[in-house]
Amino acid sequence: MAGNRTFTMIKPDAFEAGNSGAILKMIEEAGFKIVAMKATRLTPELAGKFYEVHKERPFYADLCKYMSSGPIIAAILEKDNAVEDFRTLIGATNPANAAEGTIRKIFAKSIEANAVHGSDSDENAAIEGNFYFSQLERVL
Ligand code: CMP
Repeated sequence: MAGNRTFTMIKPDAFEAGNSGAILKMIEEAGFKIVAMKATRLTPELAGKFYEVHKERPFYADLCKYMSSGPIIAAILEKDNAVEDFRTLIGATNPANAAEGTIRKIFAKSIEANAVHGSDSDENAAIEGNFYFSQLERVL
């Protein structure tokens, strides 16, 4: 059975552009409940740790640099079928391929500066949520 939680980041491009509020509104209107949230900033080392699964990919170094270039918002979201429904809401990784009306289609600037992150599995949703939030911050 699919889990009911996913994890998201509003990335530096969307935060800097002042789109965090509009993106959170779309997330809530799609039926996701915010159960933990904070504005923070990654160091290059922490960005490297978060995206460690991509460390062999050619874009890894640039991704770590970009993800530590400014503030982000990290959040744990709750909804039935959360991981899959959230990926539908945000659209394809490359905004050029994202469906009309998706968050990335509306707000993303490029495949790297693609406005939001969404977990790709229930297992990674738990790992990524735990990366940002302590047990005390995950009380809901
Ligand atoms: P995200 O869903 O956060 O997961 C990995 C990130 O790497 C991705 O979004 C993009 O921001 C970034 N990225 C940069 N280049 C690529 C690429 N060619 N393919 C996939 N992801 C990329």
